[in-house]
Amino acid sequence: MAGATVINHPLVQHKLTHMRMKETSTQGFRRLLREISVLLTYEVTRDLPITSIGIETPLQPMDAPIIEGKKLVFASVLRAGNGLLEGMLELVPAARVAHIGLYRDPETLKPVEYYFKAPEDLSERLVVVVDPMLATANSAIAAVQRLKDRGATNLRFLCLLAAPEGVAKFESAHPDVPIFTAAIDEKLNDHGYIMPGLGDAGDRMYGTK
Ligand code: PRP
Ligand code: URA
Repeated sequence: MAGATVINHPLVQHKLTHMRMKETSTQGFRRLLREISVLLTYEVTRDLPITSIGIETPLQPMDAPIIEGKKLVFASVLRAGNGLLEGMLELVPAARVAHIGLYRDPETLKPVEYYFKAPEDLSERLVVVVDPMLATANSAIAAVQRLKDRGATNLRFLCLLAAPEGVAKFESAHPDVPIFTAAIDEKLNDHGYIMPGLGDAGDRMYGTK
C-alpha cells in the first residue's frame, strides 16, 4: 500500500484555513489555491531521483545534480484541478500536461467523462494527478484508471482535502498510487461533500453555483 502523506507545512495549513472560510472571495480562493499548489508541488516532488551531469561554472568544471528521466506529467482533473495546475507549472515549467474532464453526477456521485487528452508516452514518465478534492474518490479512481489504460505505471495523486472514506476507497482501488494531501477531514456528508471541508472547490474557484 502506497499510503497517504499529509503535508503539514505551516504555510499550507494557514492558507488552507483561509480557503475554508466561507467569507473568502472567489479572487482570494483562486490566489490561495495557486500559492498552496506551489508548496504542495515542492512536497510531491521531494524524492524525485537525481542524476548528475558535467557542467562548467565560470570557475571550473563540476558534476552537478539534475532530475533524472523524462519530464513529469501533471494530469489535471477538470475543472478544479486547473486551480492547482497553474502553480505547479510555475515550479516545473517544462512539465507535460494531461487534462481529464470529469464531473460528478449529483444523484449517483459517479464521474461522467467529457474530455481526455494526454501526452503519448505516459509509460516513461511520472504522472502526478491533481484535483483539490478527494471525496468519495470516484473521480480520482476513474482518472487514474484512465491514465493507467493509456500506459501510465508511475503515478501519484495530489489533492488539497481528502475524506477518510475516499482515502480508503482510493487505496484499495489503486494501492500502487500514493496520495499527497494537505488535510484529511472528518467524514463525508449524505451528499458526498467533505466535512467540514471547504464547499464545492470548482464553484468557489470560478464563482459558479
Ligand atoms: C469535484 C472535485 C473532484 C470531485 C471529487 O469536482 O473537483 O473532481 O468533485 O468528488 P469525488 O471524490 O466524490 O468524485 P466536480 O464534479 O464538482 O466538478 P468540477 O471540478 O467541474 O466542479
Ligand atoms: N467536490 C467538492 O468540490 N467538494 C466536496 O466537498 C466534495 C466534492
